[in-house]
Amino acid sequence: MTIIDGKALSEKTFEEIKETHDELQKKAGRKAGLAVIIVGENPASKIYVRNKIRACEKVGFNSETIRLDESISEENLLLEIEKLNNDDNIDGILVQLPLPKHINELEVINAISAEKDVDGFHTTNIGKMMIGDETGFLPCTPAGVIQMFEEYNIDLEGKDVLVIGQSNIVGKPMTLLLIKKRATVQVCNSKTKNLSEKLQKSDVVVAAAGSPKLVKASDVKEGVVVIDVGINRVDGKLCGDVDFDEVSKKASFITPVPGGVGPMTIAMLIKNTLKSYKQKIN
Ligand code: GUN
Repeated sequence: MTIIDGKALSEKTFEEIKETHDELQKKAGRKAGLAVIIVGENPASKIYVRNKIRACEKVGFNSETIRLDESISEENLLLEIEKLNNDDNIDGILVQLPLPKHINELEVINAISAEKDVDGFHTTNIGKMMIGDETGFLPCTPAGVIQMFEEYNIDLEGKDVLVIGQSNIVGKPMTLLLIKKRATVQVCNSKTKNLSEKLQKSDVVVAAAGSPKLVKASDVKEGVVVIDVGINRVDGKLCGDVDFDEVSKKASFITPVPGGVGPMTIAMLIKNTLKSYKQKIN
């Protein structure tokens, strides 16, 4: 059994990006820049944003955090985005989700210039992913999972893959990227019947349901590859959607939580920001 080390892989990616950026900025005369907007005081969002800013520092990018009050109007939030769209020193714009209920998330995401949407959530980038146009940005979490498969030489062609969760951020784009790898994909949601039976038939499981210990050892087959995208807090301790201690005894490859998919999501955000920077300085 191999534990897929997302932390180490993310560090390797940061080093590569830092080297490329150090070279490019000499010619470009400016650093890459990422702007992160956070609305309100969601504690998990604050931690994610802090980690994203730290990653920028690690690779030498400029970063800017825009903290806005929970009560901000959608109109004023859109004005902030417009300023960043027009700022030539900003290559990537990210609005941390979720947003307060009075704000329409889709309107906000689509107000970000598609050329600066390093989260890969803009309708244009989703369309490009769907059609296989590689000039766009891929959503960071599924892109990070694909990078893990590639680094560990896990071939997906012809494999039966079960994706648990159908969110816009993970489940849906994950499915598209797996299809591109020629996997046979089945997508489950909270209404799915006989999840256990489906798990037993799967070669690869991507769990993104937000439900602790949803995937149990008795449900999976020997040699299964397990990717745990869940980030849950149980009794103050972080855990994923997979019962890691037990499932790891049957798996061939498994990601831990923390230290698995989470760091890869941030690595892909930084990679997307470098891609945007390259497109803009050329
Ligand atoms: N909230 C949870 N995951 C993400 C993410 O990848 N990007 C943004 N912007 N918000 C999130």
